[in-house]
Amino acid sequence: MRAINFSANFYIIFGGKLFSHEKGRSKISHLTGGGVDCLKLAGTFGTPLYVFDTGIIKSRCGELRETFLNRWDNTRVRYAGKAFLIRAMAKLIADEGIGLDVVSEGELYTALSAGFPPERIEMNGNAKSLREIDYAVRSGVGRIIVDHPDEIGIIESCAKEAGRVQKIMIRVAPGVDAHTHKYIATGSTDSKFGVPADSREGSMLTEAIRFARTCEHVSMRGLHFHVGSQLFDTDDYTKSIEKIIELMKSLKDSLNFTTHELNMGGGFGAVINPAIPAMKSEFYTEPMMKALHEGCAKYGIEIPRVILEPGRWFVSEAGITLYTVENVRELPGITYIAVNGGMSDNPRYALYQAEYNAVKADDIDGEIWHPESGGKVSIVGKCCESGDILIDDAEIQRVKAGDIIALYNTGAYTFSMSSNYNCLMRPAVVFVENGEARVVAERQTLEDIIRGQVI
Ligand code: LLP
Repeated sequence: MRAINFSANFYIIFGGKLFSHEKGRSKISHLTGGGVDCLKLAGTFGTPLYVFDTGIIKSRCGELRETFLNRWDNTRVRYAGKAFLIRAMAKLIADEGIGLDVVSEGELYTALSAGFPPERIEMNGNAKSLREIDYAVRSGVGRIIVDHPDEIGIIESCAKEAGRVQKIMIRVAPGVDAHTHKYIATGSTDSKFGVPADSREGSMLTEAIRFARTCEHVSMRGLHFHVGSQLFDTDDYTKSIEKIIELMKSLKDSLNFTTHELNMGGGFGAVINPAIPAMKSEFYTEPMMKALHEGCAKYGIEIPRVILEPGRWFVSEAGITLYTVENVRELPGITYIAVNGGMSDNPRYALYQAEYNAVKADDIDGEIWHPESGGKVSIVGKCCESGDILIDDAEIQRVKAGDIIALYNTGAYTFSMSSNYNCLMRPAVVFVENGEARVVAERQTLEDIIRGQVI
């Protein structure tokens, strides 16, 4: 691991609420994160580079502790590792006292290799393999979130073999169509995730609960739902909660089943523009908890333990990606800024038309560029596809080949969704805090590209 110390010349927290900087020492202002000059980061570690201000991630953990965990009894938070999981991130989350949601043996292995306490881990996944279930059970994970009823029998036999009783919850689809991109909406009844929230006699759900209760090595603790991702209003949550409470009530009446635990999933939104204040966790948790308490009171059922599993909200605004401009192509009506990364390190525009903001890292206050040729400025990647776009219509300072640009708020679902498309090497990840930077995931090398291949 390499560590370097930089003194901060200017103060700007990328992706944070604070957006101030000191002018005057020189005519231009550099982007810094965690007290480290991004230009120096690019120079030292190369580009493309994922940079995370861990102070921001820790403050998110603190915010949820204060406004949710300490405010409401019997509550838990599990960070959804799919947003960004490497060993150093797992360690950070473990140290903050938060739990972890994993969805594969790879994520579980990453977490365990960082010493993550297994009892604070839950395993999700709509198509878990027998091997994954067995690994999770043997590792002693706190909960397995059953997505398909077939898993229950497998968990029973794995737990019997391991001499354990495995706690489980069943994921239900509440039948709410979330207001978000269709690829990240997961709560409708025709979703590929979970079991329809149907308590009628003979339904998938009632049969699954009945069967789970016959299993000696399975302890059925409650229900789980995740309505969607990148949500900016709370209606989807409160509507889902109302439906789930009705479901809890009818499961109580028909099966005498008590929902001891209710996992309400993730989905808290992350803003794309660093000048816009981040979403506060209370914006979500207050109406959610109010809906739960009111609903439980209305139906006379006991308030379950509440578990939340946001991913993006913890990390999106804590991350930036630094790129080097390879060339600029000014065409009539459109100017392309081509950088040395692209959809291989951030496929989110290609997949969801996700929006980002960018700056020239050593001139963050400079005037926005309006090319003489007219039209928009597009920041594009180096992959061999016209859809390899990072920002379709960017507002950025004038740049030339060799300049460093930063895309803000790229901490979530970028590293974790990166690929080796076009045999590009995955960028390194650097954590910055208090003026110190350290590499926490090495840049891939050419050897990594051909690792394991034979002729
Ligand atoms: N819990 C479950 C069961 C989930 O399926 C997800 C996300 C989360 C929690 C965390 O959601 P978050 O708080 O991060 O929104 N690749 C997409 C996002 C896919 C999310 C899938 N499930 C993107 O880049 O926007």
